[in-house]
Amino acid sequence: MHHYPDRTAWLQGGNARCIDPGPTPRRPWHVLLLGPPGVGKGTQAELIIESLGACHLSTGDVFRAAHHGCNGPVSPAMQEALGAMKRGELVSDATVVNLVRERVGCLCCAHGFLLDGFPRTRDQAEALDGMLAAAGTRLDAVINYTAAEEEILARVGGRRVCRRCKRGYHLDHKAPRTPGVCDACGGELYQRDDDRAEAVHTRLEAYRATARPVVEFYRAKGVLHEIDAHGSPGQVFEKTHAVLLAV
Ligand code: AP5
Repeated sequence: MHHYPDRTAWLQGGNARCIDPGPTPRRPWHVLLLGPPGVGKGTQAELIIESLGACHLSTGDVFRAAHHGCNGPVSPAMQEALGAMKRGELVSDATVVNLVRERVGCLCCAHGFLLDGFPRTRDQAEALDGMLAAAGTRLDAVINYTAAEEEILARVGGRRVCRRCKRGYHLDHKAPRTPGVCDACGGELYQRDDDRAEAVHTRLEAYRATARPVVEFYRAKGVLHEIDAHGSPGQVFEKTHAVLLAV
């Protein structure tokens, strides 16, 4: 089982360094996870890391860390980003690309990475391509998870997150032992602002409007793998694991 790496450098950016990155994996993976909101990218990222190592680089997590005041005062660009996120809209390409550029060290980290939530537009994909080329890093695989809309709505609607340690739960599929309380740290479970019905609708629209060109960008590069994300997290992980071990 792999050590879950510290993500301080990713979550805080700037000069922040990871405190305890743990042992370097024998094979550092460089993988992108694509797919609609709530399809299970974060859930799969946890399982991939447990089994294969790598660091979970989620752009959504960086915005949520800023929202919870983890990185000190919020800049005007970040304030705008947090407003867009709350409504379920995409944050502007310029803000997201700058945010990743400020953390470019994470793209050449010896632990490898699982990028989740970035890129979401063709322009972001091209910007990432430039950053990876400059860092001398090649993508091993891009995984595109798909699921029917009613399944996505059920997953997002039941999601709860721990305020303290950010662990994810689901009211039906991954319920905490005590309702409303995190099994791991005893923190309070809450529903993300953008998991409320109105914002979810906007997020799905944004996804439909921008996802295809990103998928086609990676298909043309020959690194795209489509995975049907129906089934339990373990079943989806089995498919993911098989794809990764074959690349
Ligand atoms: P982000 O945090 O990236 O959210 P997202 O893509 O909408 O994805 P989610 O975190 O909602 O879902 P997930 O696929 O990780 O699902 P999970 O594993 O939790 O982005 C949030 C916002 O930030 C965006 O809307 C935007 O505003 C902004 N943003 C971020 N990046 C941006 C970018 N690059 N450009 C512009 N804006 C950006 O699973 C969901 C639930 O289902 C959980 O409860 C889980 O337990 C359950 N579940 C998972 N798998 C299964 C399964 N197989 N069976 C049953 N239940 C399951």
